[in-house]
Amino acid sequence: MIKIRTMTLDDYDKVIDLMRQTPGISLRDADSREATMRYLQRNPGMSFVAEAESGLCGCVMCGHDGRRGYLQHLLVLPQFRRQGIGDALVRRCLASLEEQGVHKCHLDVLKTNESAARHWHNRGWQLRRDIDRYSFTRPGNENA
Ligand SMILES: CC(C)(COP(=O)(O)OP(=O)(O)OC[C@H]1O[C@@H](n2cnc3c(N)ncnc32)[C@H](O)[C@@H]1OP(=O)(O)O)[C@@H](O)C(=O)NCCC(=O)NCCS
Repeated sequence: MIKIRTMTLDDYDKVIDLMRQTPGISLRDADSREATMRYLQRNPGMSFVAEAESGLCGCVMCGHDGRRGYLQHLLVLPQFRRQGIGDALVRRCLASLEEQGVHKCHLDVLKTNESAARHWHNRGWQLRRDIDRYSFTRPGNENA
């Protein structure tokens, strides 16, 4: 039986471990414990983990800036995939955004992650061909 529950900072080490095991998930300095604490505090009750008897088997992080939602780091361990856990995690995020009055959510997918691209396409998420994302990184923080 898989339980979906809110992610807390106590889950940090296990969540990072899941991410390290998962190709397609890119970890940066912004995934440090301190930055994750800040993120969870700013976006309470919006990030979730999936818990099996054996331990955590999936996670997703979500937040918003007051206008748009952002979904990050959705993953389910390979042996737990294709049971609806990914969809259940995303449903919880979108419901939490809806509760905050945020009706639109963005996510980034590495161009090399073709299976993720299929996953989002199959669920009606729109690939934005009309915009390019520009990022500014303060010099000296190339892994930010
Ligand atoms: C993307 C990812 C999170 C999906 O997790 P998941 O738990 O397998 O997702 P779901 O089970 O909800 O859906 C996956 C498929 O299983 C199917 N499925 C769900 N329950 C099922 C069941 N009981 N029996 C058979 N198939 C089922 C779904 O219909 C879906 O198929 P579709 O994509 O053809 O529509 C997972 O593949 C993953 O961790 N990938 C690597 C990390 C990654 O790339 N993340 C995205 C970064 S943007």
